[in-house]
Amino acid sequence: MANIVVVGTQWGDEGKGRVIDSLARTSDAVVRFQGGSNAGHTVVVNGEKFVFHLIPSGALYPGKKCIIGNGVVVDPQDLLLEIEALRSKQIELKDLYLSSNAHVVMSYHKRIEQIEEERRGEQRIGTTRRGIGPAYADKAARRGVRVADLLEKGVLAEKLRINLSFWKNFYGLDYSAEDLLHQYLEYGRKLKRYVTDTSLLVNRLMQEGKNMLFEGAQGTLLDVDHGTYPFVTSSNVVAGGACTGVGIGPTKIGKVLGVAKAYVTRVGQGPFPTEIQGKIGEILKEGGQEYGATTGRPRRCGWFDGVILRYAARVNGLDELILTKLDVLDLLDKIKICVAYKYRGKLIQDFPFELEYWERCQPVYEEMKGWKKDTSRIKIEKDLPKRMREYIKRIEEIGGLPISHLSLNPERSEFLSLH
Ligand code: IMP
Repeated sequence: MANIVVVGTQWGDEGKGRVIDSLARTSDAVVRFQGGSNAGHTVVVNGEKFVFHLIPSGALYPGKKCIIGNGVVVDPQDLLLEIEALRSKQIELKDLYLSSNAHVVMSYHKRIEQIEEERRGEQRIGTTRRGIGPAYADKAARRGVRVADLLEKGVLAEKLRINLSFWKNFYGLDYSAEDLLHQYLEYGRKLKRYVTDTSLLVNRLMQEGKNMLFEGAQGTLLDVDHGTYPFVTSSNVVAGGACTGVGIGPTKIGKVLGVAKAYVTRVGQGPFPTEIQGKIGEILKEGGQEYGATTGRPRRCGWFDGVILRYAARVNGLDELILTKLDVLDLLDKIKICVAYKYRGKLIQDFPFELEYWERCQPVYEEMKGWKKDTSRIKIEKDLPKRMREYIKRIEEIGGLPISHLSLNPERSEFLSLH
């Protein structure tokens, strides 16, 4: 199947890494289109764990092109460390391509983020502290440093002059332009072999009929336009972001696949209507090993939220869904699904768009009996417990879209196809 976009339908960490890894087998290229090293995709191969932050997960297959599009913000230091880490595991990145137009996360972006988070106090976003927001802010303010600038001493020196004087006036930051120039030119020198016009490359590959896989990071509710603003990341996470973040037309996208976890998690601050406190939250956190791949922070856990799923289906134009980590629910006596919200006594079916609603609405739940059976080794649909099948069917009904695959085990090979 040509040109698939994979997106998260919740607040990130839905298990997209494994889905991408599995689809990468039949793809010719995997393309990142937004975010930066705030993302963390974990793939387990033969018991060995690989964590990807910037490099597309397809890197584990020899001969697949791995492309970092213009919509990504790239911390060159992180990227070089990741290249080295993969190399140390005998994974050579001969087919890595980096957009010359991608913006660069500079060391001062991380400092700016730290200052801004501290100033927000209780209202802090709870970011990953990877400098993502300030890098996108500089991009929108039209003073950002792009990857191509790392290859041009004169251009980089001028951009550093403008940026450093701006941030010195604004936050009193005092960085040495000379040191930064030296450091980032060195990064440029090391990354030069990967830098190219990735829009041209991707469009050419599509013309040749290659299978492209567009790898979304984070999740729909962290989208800067469509998420729970301001508790979001700073990029367009939704499927449409693949067009602007790579430089392809919407007509080129063949399919949009959503990934949802069988419950919901969130890291960082912000509203979370179905959040569970107490024992069940702990069971999910420990059973699902819900700790951030990038920051190691524990994730908040909650019941599956059908309102969010319907919303994600709408704003991404989802064709189908992949449901992950269902086995984490194996131990539960009762399982709840949120089907609507209640706000000031009024029933809300559609995801509201104001912070006030998200913070104050009450989830309306349907309750089902748990299947209470170890499902982590099940490989075919007919072996699934009846109650689990009912749970899956109910999610399909609520979301109004088919679930094509399930994952019941963190191992790479385990993916169960439905219908
Ligand atoms: P930032 O992207 O580092 O600016 O963080 C903004 C918000 O997005 C915070 O709540 C982060 O926890 C969240 N976030 C960013 N990247 C991820 C991710 O890959 N998974 C889950 N949450 C993320």
